[in-house]
Amino acid sequence: MENRLSVWVSGSGSNLERIIKACQSGEIFASVVLAASDRPGILALERARKHSIPAEVVPPKQFGSAGAYALALLELLKKYRVDLVCLAGYLRKVPDEVVRAYRGRIINIHPALLPKYGGKGLYGRQVHKAVLAAKEKESGVTVHYVDEQYDHGSIILQKKVSILSSDTPEALAERVHQVEYEIYPQAITLVLEKLACR
Ligand code: GRF
Repeated sequence: MENRLSVWVSGSGSNLERIIKACQSGEIFASVVLAASDRPGILALERARKHSIPAEVVPPKQFGSAGAYALALLELLKKYRVDLVCLAGYLRKVPDEVVRAYRGRIINIHPALLPKYGGKGLYGRQVHKAVLAAKEKESGVTVHYVDEQYDHGSIILQKKVSILSSDTPEALAERVHQVEYEIYPQAITLVLEKLACR
């Protein structure tokens, strides 16, 4: 049976678009059955709707407690019978209750070579700025399992990106994004194969 993916987003959703297309072309043996966001009005939700994929917004502030927020996320995953959650630019920490219920079935993509340049507050431009400030020779992309700590779970796939002397955070981000489009579908396939063998 085809696998059911949920992609969680907070921004532009170019990885979401890539994953949707990889599912449509058969590169990934799955369908994106749900896009979920912590905030309304973002481009990623538009992209999902354009592909007729349900796009749900679950803003934490709407719930009286962290527990109620976690429960809402769990209900959503149950409602759409989700097999694997792919975080793609989702800027919030996944509640521990959700991590525990879906251990090994939530993955994230990070625009650097973890364990370096990860953790709370290190996302988007901040990551590339820090990498360049440290005069690193290379950066890259990491896809990893999500656990109870930011950017911490075990690594599924990593690919390096060379740094050029002319690099700005924006230029580096652009090359890193291209590598994300390459390895996220590969990592998803690896995880789905592993889940099928359990
Ligand atoms: C990507 O760089 C990803 O590594 C990070 O957030 C960014 C999302 O980009 N977690 P997009 O919204 O998919 O374009």
